[in-house]
Amino acid sequence: MVKICCIGAGYVGGPTMAVIAHKCPDIKVVVVDISVSRITAWNSDQLPIYEPGLDDLVKSCRGKNLFFSTDVEKHVSEADIIFVSVNTPTKTRGLGAGKAADLAYWESAARMIADVSKSDKIVIEKSTVPVKTAEAIEKILTHNNKGVNYQILSNPEFLAEGTAINDLFAPDRVLIGGRETPEGQRAIKALKDVYAHWVPEERILCTNLWSAELSKLAANAFLAQRISSVNAMSALCEATGADITQVSHAVGKDTRIGHKFLNASVGFGGSCFQKDILNLVYICECNGLPEVANYWKQVIKVNDYQKNRFVNRIVSSMFNTVSGKKIAILGFAFKKDTGDTRETPAIDVCKGLLGDKANLSIYDPQVTEEQIQRDLSMNKFDWDHPVHLQPMSPSSVKQVSVVWDAYEAAKGAHGLCIMTEWDEFKNLDYKKIYDSMPKPAFVFDGRNVMDPKKLREIGFIAYSIGKPLDSWLKDMPAVA
Ligand code: UDX
Ligand code: UDX
Ligand code: ADP
Repeated sequence: MVKICCIGAGYVGGPTMAVIAHKCPDIKVVVVDISVSRITAWNSDQLPIYEPGLDDLVKSCRGKNLFFSTDVEKHVSEADIIFVSVNTPTKTRGLGAGKAADLAYWESAARMIADVSKSDKIVIEKSTVPVKTAEAIEKILTHNNKGVNYQILSNPEFLAEGTAINDLFAPDRVLIGGRETPEGQRAIKALKDVYAHWVPEERILCTNLWSAELSKLAANAFLAQRISSVNAMSALCEATGADITQVSHAVGKDTRIGHKFLNASVGFGGSCFQKDILNLVYICECNGLPEVANYWKQVIKVNDYQKNRFVNRIVSSMFNTVSGKKIAILGFAFKKDTGDTRETPAIDVCKGLLGDKANLSIYDPQVTEEQIQRDLSMNKFDWDHPVHLQPMSPSSVKQVSVVWDAYEAAKGAHGLCIMTEWDEFKNLDYKKIYDSMPKPAFVFDGRNVMDPKKLREIGFIAYSIGKPLDSWLKDMPAVA
């Protein structure tokens, strides 16, 4: 029986291994992590991450050919194939601070593999890492070699949260990069055999190591660039009276462009886009390509601009002050169908409003109060460390309350901001909400889940990203 061990039981490692175990009953899969609380949760009824379909999948294989353990060294030493899917935070100090990936967790995982291995291993990069990381890892492993043969592969993961299980069941492609030597090709074949249990052969792409590493950064950069492009257009739509939904629809009809990933929003979030682009920028700079670096930097600048613009719109339309005013925040996760808040635009918007002394009442169906408080008191880039190493908030932010009901959040609020496109926000009784708010009552829809015309009929002053403004908003222009 082939034995797989995955180091890192996070958003990538957990779901990916659950799908491998489910599709390959002949393979034993063990997911290991240094975080005791994470592993305890994976072994309980309350999994550490929320992902549609994940609970059933884990229950169907756990204890059969899928295991979760903190005994990292034992399972690594027994495995034939080791996936590494540990954190790769952005460096906050030293060389490359604010841009370069911090490979400390990766390096420590590699050294541990070298320490405990007694048999040959295929070591697979699953976390997104800078181009040429595989080469560095290879050096650590081979310099500590005790007669063990290591083959390094890059097998980046393209799943998106909220749809992870579907994405893993039916991937657009599986990408495997490896050395062009006979041993490298054999390792690629071994991993291909795992995926071939359920992925059609023509969807499994094999490349050299660096192409695989770079393709992941490139794919995320292209996706994020589409969002910044449509968001930049949304600002122009508001200024000219065009409607971004109509423009996106018309543009997306061109089959060369396509309709996906053209939804204007308050900004993209998530653990990958910003981090990967910063990484790409850093790699370009290190390779003497400042023009290329600046091109990609602009994608992040537009994303920051979009979040700032949203805050400015709120403050300016509410008579230039939100000081002491209650503002309801509906949704905190970075997208619907996940409890993940990493780099969620809600953090920047909330911090912006708190900076203007607003009182926030926050509701998200999947995010805990502890998480929200931690996010609002954490510094930029500090989030990407194992849960138990994250700085705990010294005290909770006093101007923030977290509630478990959208109506409760909205009661007595001067304004309501929609930050995540949860389906339930489409079906709220907005008349009831309106009646419970002081007047004028405002809605700022950062995800275009509601039709602003309908909200205006109820009596709201309604702002939607990239949609024609009503006369109130036109009279109170936001200074960007
Ligand atoms: C373009 C638009 O495609 C068309 O819809 C619009 O009506 C007019 O502008 P055109 O300029 O005739 O049409 O040709 P197009 O095929 O878009 O190519 C434009 C340039 O881009 C060419 O120089 C082409 O060589 C280049 N190109 C195109 C690339 O360098 N790479 C590509 O992948 C595609
Ligand atoms: C992304 C990539 O899609 C995935 O392939 C990669 O493996 C990891 O990074 P993820 O971050 O989980 O996945 O979610 P995604 O659906 O890409 O959304 C990222 C952000 O962009 C979210 O904040 C989302 O709300 C936003 N978004 C997405 C938009 O604002 N508009 C869109 O049209 C699409
Ligand atoms: P991703 O979204 O890429 O899956 P996560 O932060 O959700 O990232 O998961 C990474 C996991 O890796 C965390 O649970 C963390 O505790 C774990 N981890 C980090 N370093 C090590 C290590 N050296 N050994 C085992 N697990 C590790």
